[in-house]
Amino acid sequence: MKFFSALNFKTISTLLACVSIAQAAGDKEAIADPNSAVVKLTSSTFSKFLDENPLVLAEFFAPWCGHCKALGPEFAQAADELESKDIKLAQIDCTEEEELCQEYGIRGYPTLKVFKGRDVLDYEGTRKSDGIVSYMIKQSLPPVSLIDDFEELLTYIEDQPVPVIVETGVKLNETFYQLSDANRDDFVFVQTKSAELKKKYGEDKILIFSKEFEEPLIYSDEDESYETLQQWVKAESLPYFGELDGSTYQKYSTANIPLAYLFYTSEEEREAWKDTVVELAKESRGKINFVGIDSTKFGRHAENLNMQQEFPLFVIHDVVTNKKYGFPQKEVLNQKEVAAFVKRYSVGEIDPIVKTEEIPEIQENFVYKIVGKTHNDIINDEEKDVLVKYYAPWCGHCKRLAPVYEELAELYASSKEGKSKIRIANVDATLNDVEVDIAGYPTLILYPAGDKSNPIVHKGGRDLQSLVNFIKESGSFELDGNALEDDVESIDEVEEPVTDDDSIKESKENTHDEL
Ligand SMILES: *[C@@H]1O[C@H](CO)[C@@H](O)[C@H](O)[C@H]1NC(C)=O
Repeated sequence: MKFFSALNFKTISTLLACVSIAQAAGDKEAIADPNSAVVKLTSSTFSKFLDENPLVLAEFFAPWCGHCKALGPEFAQAADELESKDIKLAQIDCTEEEELCQEYGIRGYPTLKVFKGRDVLDYEGTRKSDGIVSYMIKQSLPPVSLIDDFEELLTYIEDQPVPVIVETGVKLNETFYQLSDANRDDFVFVQTKSAELKKKYGEDKILIFSKEFEEPLIYSDEDESYETLQQWVKAESLPYFGELDGSTYQKYSTANIPLAYLFYTSEEEREAWKDTVVELAKESRGKINFVGIDSTKFGRHAENLNMQQEFPLFVIHDVVTNKKYGFPQKEVLNQKEVAAFVKRYSVGEIDPIVKTEEIPEIQENFVYKIVGKTHNDIINDEEKDVLVKYYAPWCGHCKRLAPVYEELAELYASSKEGKSKIRIANVDATLNDVEVDIAGYPTLILYPAGDKSNPIVHKGGRDLQSLVNFIKESGSFELDGNALEDDVESIDEVEEPVTDDDSIKESKENTHDEL
């Protein structure tokens, strides 16, 4: 289930990125210093520039954008450092070059893209000058270095700021190149024929050298497929007790295993927890990643994890199911108890913290209000087609849909057949955890009666008639809202609608008109 994660990750990484950017922006300029090596490109100079320069990092930006302002000076500094290496940095002002920016599908500022001749790649490094420099240098190097001399190899490994993955031989050449291509941002790859290294660790082995470990890790699985190796590389090359911030979030969120957070309040506190966490991380290697997160900068992130902003705290987020397992905040956070908590989590003994509103005592509207606690029961009502609107209170499309949706609910509620065969419901997805893929708000999903494992996502128009048609086409009862008998005697039955009599009358008349 890829579900839910998409939206969550976007919000979370934006949140993590924002804090540092907001701190950094100050009174900086988005347009790079004209004395720097940054080249300003326009639609008339763009193509020629790419033809003449084999490796270009292009920033598509708008002068007013805050993130662009924070990036400006960093970008200029990186451009100066990279100039001698024949790597060019360019800026395109999207307020002046609308067409060009459209051509490259630019939807947010700044967007950074790497151009290698005609190949275009998304830039995935940090927005600091040193990060840009190391990222671009890596882009300019062959993905796999060949170093056969033992001493030279050791020095090379020592010099790398990131873990180094070494193949002692070329047996898995194709897979190894594939790995290097997919992971070139995070690691350095080397093939060697060094006899000393082969003697020490074996021939045709894949090793990870990392500053984290004294001895390199050796891949030992018989399965030498790309997928398995890739999983191993991802899991093993993360530090035991890493740090979560805007620059590392991506790596952890794509590792596809649960992430355990220690929100710490000071460096001393983090240090005091280190041994415990490292030990837990070693035991859970490949099953849970562990990170520290600075609560003074990223405290708000606790709420995404269904925790109160009371620190320090410990919480495990299963990124695949999006369930959150928090160490009870009523209790004092204690290392021994946390260790026990992790063990119990590993054997499935901890219940997730489900974010939910209280179950409403009365349903105030025709639209049935679902909360986190009731969601699964309601959608799985086998007797009924259930249409659910997942919304966020701040979302404009949701606000526009709300009255139409209420009208829709009212339409079915005014007939016995409608009432018994379909439920029109909604849930505020920002206040309630639901196990559903919500790629955007509002999302409308119909759960057909008798066929609950095949929910249908509404993709059409959001006007009343389109929704009526959707229910007719997708529901198990093929219920035609336009043809329903208006046979509910008294509107008292429908629990105090917040609409006035006039609009009810009007809607009934409408129904008749269409008969
Ligand atoms: C390994 O694969 C790469 C990329 O396909 C190729 O350039 C290189 O020559 C290969 N090396 C060997 C020893 O086959």
